[in-house]
Amino acid sequence: MRKEKKGTQITIQNLFKQFGQTTVLQNIDLTIEQGEFVAIVGRSGCGKSTLLRLMAGLEAPSSGDVFVEGEKVAGYNPETRVLFQESRLLPWKTVLDNVRICTENKDKDQAIKALTEVGLAEKEKEWPRVLSGGQKQRVALARALAADPSLLLLDEPLGALDALTRIEMQDLIEGLWSEQEFTAVLVTHDVAEAVAMANRVLLIEDGHVAMDIHIPLARPRIRDNDFVYFERKILDRVMGKNVEDEYKTVRKIEYLI
Ligand SMILES: Nc1ncnc2c1ncn2[C@@H]1O[C@H](COP(=O)(O)OP(=O)(O)OP(=O)(O)O)[C@@H](O)[C@H]1O
Ligand SMILES: [Mg+2]
Repeated sequence: MRKEKKGTQITIQNLFKQFGQTTVLQNIDLTIEQGEFVAIVGRSGCGKSTLLRLMAGLEAPSSGDVFVEGEKVAGYNPETRVLFQESRLLPWKTVLDNVRICTENKDKDQAIKALTEVGLAEKEKEWPRVLSGGQKQRVALARALAADPSLLLLDEPLGALDALTRIEMQDLIEGLWSEQEFTAVLVTHDVAEAVAMANRVLLIEDGHVAMDIHIPLARPRIRDNDFVYFERKILDRVMGKNVEDEYKTVRKIEYLI
């Protein structure tokens, strides 16, 4: 049975992360509220995965602190689950056993319930190698959610999937998030994906949070003018343009022709 709890809060204070002489993240102060769905975007190498790994306790800060539910993050936390670009399933275990190892007491019913939630209960006896890329990611999602985490960290989990499977997975993750109320942090290079899924988007640039924007769009999200407005606003900031100026230019051109 589900525990009565909601997602966890993350607080980051004066965080710096260096690798050798290179400062990747600097002076980050950030609070992510319980149950939020936050997307982190930014150019390749800007430090998105590093920030996520710091939240997961897979990296230690050079200075500053990361707190999850008020507790300083120091290594593995069973309440936090991470989904990576590759599914990382164990090839010598069946689908069911891959999910089962992450449940409390290797609970079979809990594992089957998680597989049912991602629509793959009928694959429980299969080996990972016979699954498609999208199916493997769904098993990885079931494994992440089987233990009923309060924080789900996603590092480009849909990056290797084809466009249609990607949209299906976005809907699935969004649906499970709104139903189970965990806090979700999604790293993605795809701004449209960030706007489709998150209620808040952070842009990392020069080691800090350069843009922190709320996405007040209703769900399920459709690609209407409001959606495109937020997408362009973020994209243009990444590209160093000003969306308001550009709209003025477009209007001017429309007027001229
Ligand atoms: N363990 C490490 N040792 C040394 N440098 C590292 C390490 N991990 C990351 N870096 C460096 O830190 C910077 C940020 O890396 P990170 O993986 O966080 O970027 P990213 O924004 O996730 O990029 P991408 O979009 O390509 O995945 C890069 O310059 C990378 O080379
Ligand atoms: Mg990365």
